Amino acid sequence: MQNKLSRIARDINLFLKIFLKKQKKTELISPIQYGLFPGGKKIRCKILIDIGSLFNINYKTLIIIGSAVECIHAYSLIHDDLPCMDNDNLRRGKPSMHVKFGESTAILAGNSLLTMAFEILSVSNLKINEKTKVNLIKKLSECSGHLGIAGGQFLDLNYERKKISKNKIIEMEIKKTGKLFSFCCMTPAIIRNKNKKIINSFKNIGADIGLLFQIADDLLDYTGDTEKAGKKTKKDKKKGKATLISLLGYKNVIKYNHKIKFKIINKLKKLGFNSENLNETLDYILKRSK
Ligand code: IPE
Ligand code: IPE
Ligand code: MG
Ligand code: MG
Ligand code: MG
Repeated sequence: MQNKLSRIARDINLFLKIFLKKQKKTELISPIQYGLFPGGKKIRCKILIDIGSLFNINYKTLIIIGSAVECIHAYSLIHDDLPCMDNDNLRRGKPSMHVKFGESTAILAGNSLLTMAFEILSVSNLKINEKTKVNLIKKLSECSGHLGIAGGQFLDLNYERKKISKNKIIEMEIKKTGKLFSFCCMTPAIIRNKNKKIINSFKNIGADIGLLFQIADDLLDYTGDTEKAGKKTKKDKKKGKATLISLLGYKNVIKYNHKIKFKIINKLKKLGFNSENLNETLDYILKRSK
């Protein structure tokens, strides 16, 4: 699994480096590079490739789309760490963007990464027809804006130090984290022009994977080691974040997350697909220490 992630990271970083090299130089290039490289685990792209392999999608196409997803993810982390959001000063083992470059630059580098994702999808040769490309851009916009990451982050901050129901916490986690995973899971079916029902099934599988991923992240915050995680842990409690752990307790949430995994794998099997690759990725997520 680690080898597969390293290969994906290498290919994505290579694509993004070449893409940036072709751009006109500006003062923001250096903070943009700081936000992208060496970067994180590339789990979203691994999921995109897991599902992509079920639909025989070309690897290079998946790497380009995965690179766009990574730009959005990197932007979301830069803004997530800002003093007005989670106020975190360590990210991926380095000082957070605003610590290194200042708040205004962190906001602007974040904005640049968000828009760069759509530029990548628009200008790259994805070997798919224009109509499908526009559809992917539309889906990625929806997953990133007020119906997705931005909306979920709004709820996350709004729910601090409040008693929030289980369903509301799940809705928030699916928006802030699940929607980008939904995009990754839907994309191969969209490229293959599958019907709405199939696309919707993969959208739901993605939402569940995102929920599982965010719960694993919340568990990591609860018990994890700052050094290994590359970001400060044990902060959610201090900030009064509404998480399933704060509501149901640590042990119950571990069990709950294993149930979600079981549900995801069953859904995929029911659709008639091989679940081996996804199973490996989900096991990695459940056991991760960073
Ligand atoms: C962290 O995401 C933020 C969440 C959505 C929980 P990752 O754990 O994927 O971060 P990197 O990319 O590996 O640093
Ligand atoms: C972040 O969730 C979700 C995003 C969409 C960025 P967290 O706030 O829990 O992520 P970390 O723990 O800071 O990486
Ligand atoms: Mg946050
Ligand atoms: Mg945070
Ligand atoms: Mg967290």
